[in-house]
Amino acid sequence: MTTQIKKSPEELRSYRWLGKNDLRSFGHRSRLRQFGYDRADWVGKPVIGIINTWSEINACHGHLRDRAEDVKRGVYQAGGLPIELPAMSLAEPFVKPSTMLYRNFLAMECEELLRSHPIDGAVLMGGCDKATPGLIMGAISMGIPAIYVPAGPMLRGNWRGHTLGSGSDAWKYWDEKRADRIGNEEWNEIEGGISRSFGTCMVMGTAATMMAITEALGLTLPGASSIPAVDANHPRMCAAAGRRIVDMVWEDQTPDKILTPAAFDNAIRVHMALGGSTNAIIHVIAMARRVGVPLDMGRFDAISRQVPVIANITPSGKYLMEDFFYAGGLRALMSEMRDMLDLSCVTANGRSVGDNIAGVKVYLPDVIHSLKEPLYPEGATAVLTGNLAPRGCVMKPAAADKRLLQHRGKALAFENYDAMAAAVDRDDLDVTPDHVLVLKNGGPKGGPGMPEWGQLPIPKKLLKAGVRDMLRISDARMSGTSYGACILHVAPESFVGGPLALVQSGDEIEVDVAARRIHLHVGDDELARRRAAWKQPASRYPRGYGAMYSQHIGQADEGCDFDFLQGQAAIAEPEIH
Ligand code: FES
Repeated sequence: MTTQIKKSPEELRSYRWLGKNDLRSFGHRSRLRQFGYDRADWVGKPVIGIINTWSEINACHGHLRDRAEDVKRGVYQAGGLPIELPAMSLAEPFVKPSTMLYRNFLAMECEELLRSHPIDGAVLMGGCDKATPGLIMGAISMGIPAIYVPAGPMLRGNWRGHTLGSGSDAWKYWDEKRADRIGNEEWNEIEGGISRSFGTCMVMGTAATMMAITEALGLTLPGASSIPAVDANHPRMCAAAGRRIVDMVWEDQTPDKILTPAAFDNAIRVHMALGGSTNAIIHVIAMARRVGVPLDMGRFDAISRQVPVIANITPSGKYLMEDFFYAGGLRALMSEMRDMLDLSCVTANGRSVGDNIAGVKVYLPDVIHSLKEPLYPEGATAVLTGNLAPRGCVMKPAAADKRLLQHRGKALAFENYDAMAAAVDRDDLDVTPDHVLVLKNGGPKGGPGMPEWGQLPIPKKLLKAGVRDMLRISDARMSGTSYGACILHVAPESFVGGPLALVQSGDEIEVDVAARRIHLHVGDDELARRRAAWKQPASRYPRGYGAMYSQHIGQADEGCDFDFLQGQAAIAEPEIH
């Protein structure tokens, strides 16, 4: 495809730093020469910032240090100058109390790294859960051409001939261990077999969901999100992204030209067909609002009712991301559901969605089902409302025991995570399989950072009796690798006085997923009495980033963005003097 040049070299951002004949530009150029570069490396060439979230504690991004070199190879091939800029690496397993506390931190860092340096276009490298939305939110707000390079999933796990899925099988076998069905030796072997290579979780968790959504939005090269991290296709994709971003700069293909309302609808439809993570709702709303697309949870529910789940991937199905790649990957899934997509949407490679999926086929029909024979007739996510969640809450019906999709039971309420953790393994806990477990203070302000506490553990005495699912309600999130009848993201959250704060053990709670309803059977007078007696818990942060976070974070239904990062108001380019 021929590049549609819309910029002259003098119009590049980097020209302001490097192109002038003044003392400042002399200083900038002399500092580039310190690296061994010469004028031939930058004159008339776009400078490409590679925002790399590699770190030595993030195995999901463990290969990105090398892959940045492949991106650079592509940038050089296309006539650009690559400059790698490291950014915060949000390693889901290690960052406490929750990576969600730092998603907006990464978004700010990405935006300001790009703004403050002589960068004309950006390659964003990440994949572990919050890295994807954080980088993209920042790039949207910066507004220069950007392409996403997804880290890709790790290989399948393996233990004694059994395939293991990240997270999902950890929860499963942990419950078996708690129920004394496996011992320490087996548990230790599972620990050594579940994560076999660099790359993200290889189930349809938040990472795989967000990488796929990013591709469906049009921000990656076609097919990029499904490539396993260690497959040789991955470095080739990285180099191709490096080549493409140089053309994107000349074409001035900024994120707002890709991220239209139709592109977001495409992405939500793909999310539903994948049986994707509930976390995606928060991130997609945040990304859409950054670009000025007015998205809310109602749109997810409406699309969910139209789109069946066709990806047979854990935790909603049985295969893993490596199988999904062999089945044809995201392009094959999008091809299967092409009649539901807006094929005219433009993507990062300059072509339309329709062009990108033309002629693509599904190779393994049990991994990617047809629309005629879906895994589940409705999509991945249900949004419920009612007096317990006036601004909504979400659930993943496909990953829940069907008997719990319409249920009325007594609440067993915990004021916080520690209270729940101290009680849940007690043999004398007064709980039955019909109880509704309720966790408070796990929301954006209450967690703080909305930790993934929403898959509350089944009480040990019920586990031993063979119970594997119960209705659970919280204002927290749930790992995308989790499963079960977990109602999440209750808004407004309990920490700010949402109705969840008023639930007491013994109250009756009714959930009807088909009717999208959640109801606390307590009279208005009694709720008013409880509200008058309610006191907000103390904040954990007297100072620092946490204090700023608590002051500015939005609720789950708003995408949990900071109030001061939202909007599209233009920020002037930095003065250079
Ligand atoms: Fe990084 Fe799951 S821990 S993607």
